[in-house]
Amino acid sequence: MISNVENAIGVFDSGVGGLTVVRALMERLPFENIVYFGDTARVPYGVKSVETIRTFAREITEFLLKKQVKMLIIACNTMAAVAHEEIVGISSVPVLNVIEAGASAAAETTRKHFVGVIGTPATINSNAYPRAIHRCDPRIRIFSQACPLFVPLVEEGWLDHPVTRMTAREYLQCVTCNDIDALVLGCTHYPLLKPMLQEIVGSGIILVDSAEAMAEETARTLTQMDLWNPARVQPDYQFFVTDVPLRFQSIGERFLGRALPGVHLVKW
Ligand code: DGL
Repeated sequence: MISNVENAIGVFDSGVGGLTVVRALMERLPFENIVYFGDTARVPYGVKSVETIRTFAREITEFLLKKQVKMLIIACNTMAAVAHEEIVGISSVPVLNVIEAGASAAAETTRKHFVGVIGTPATINSNAYPRAIHRCDPRIRIFSQACPLFVPLVEEGWLDHPVTRMTAREYLQCVTCNDIDALVLGCTHYPLLKPMLQEIVGSGIILVDSAEAMAEETARTLTQMDLWNPARVQPDYQFFVTDVPLRFQSIGERFLGRALPGVHLVKW
């Protein structure tokens, strides 16, 4: 398939969290059109089985390909961890994923070669981050921790709440006792906890935000594949969700850091 450079970049996630990636993309690639898909009716994915996540990922991929996207970005760490191959297998356009981007950023960041990774249970159990980090540098030792309570806490808006702080201390204790100097935020929701997490882990540990790394990786790929949109006009942003858009819109504005234009409800 020949991609039209003016076609949108398709970004998808299990829900609202992938908007952290969209935000980074909007800042880094201000003239690219974006179509976002958030499966708000079926979120969270991070505690579901691999088979279920793969089925959902295939459905979303097919939906976005029908929108004629020129590239797909798996913003959801959980889908990237367990469904990357399935998605690549049915995609006619390049597929980037947030784990590859986060892993190479982590490998570039660490000096001590001790890296922590936090994510949903599905992401951590898949071992996708350690494999991706080792592809960049096999010397790095990785210490992982699943943090299943972070997603609901962020969705609740408890970004600086005593309960979140206590939960974070508990989760991070094991990871940080290993003398790491980089901690990968391996979930779409975690960048919103950055100030609190940084305070807890201290200034000696660099937080690797896979959303920012993803935007850099996308820019590199657009150059390599000659896919930059040459138009210098206000781009078109479209958002598709599977549940009534109201909640997506209110929480989404927090993720995106700006007003959310037209959100459409998908009828499969
Ligand atoms: N988007 C998911 C991730 O990045 C978090 C939310 C979920 O569990 O579906 O892993």
